[in-house]
Amino acid sequence: ADGDADKGENVFKKCKACHMVGEDAKNRVGPALNNIFGAVAGSHDFKYSDAMIAKGEEGLVWTAETLDAYLENPRAYIKGTKMSFAGLKKEKDRENVIAYLMQFSPD
Ligand code: HEM
Repeated sequence: ADGDADKGENVFKKCKACHMVGEDAKNRVGPALNNIFGAVAGSHDFKYSDAMIAKGEEGLVWTAETLDAYLENPRAYIKGTKMSFAGLKKEKDRENVIAYLMQFSPD
């Protein structure tokens, strides 16, 4: 992807009300976001919505493409998600936060 991880760290402030990432990250309102890329949606140790679990069972895996779609409009991409976040409307913000989060998904 073409994102800028340093700029993405700034975008991640919008996520921090609910998410932690990095060493010692814990679940908060939302799941910790380490090792998200390549993971089946809703597969970490967290109490997800039924909608998120169902998407994972249907085969949704987090990639730059799928996460971009979810972050643009979470409740449209996964009807019934309990992520109460309006989304990131700017494509650059999404690319940058994705680049930031990729640092916490080794290989
Ligand atoms: C789920 C990212 C903002 C609450 C998720 C997941 C990702 C993510 C990747 C799926 C995790 C998985 O499958 O294990 C982000 C990013 C954000 C953001 C990058 C900022 C741009 C927020 C905010 C809140 C929130 C602000 C709280 C108001 C949640 C919750 C879930 C979730 C509750 C679980 C959803 C469900 O089970 O349906 N988020 N999130 N997130 N997030 Fe966020």
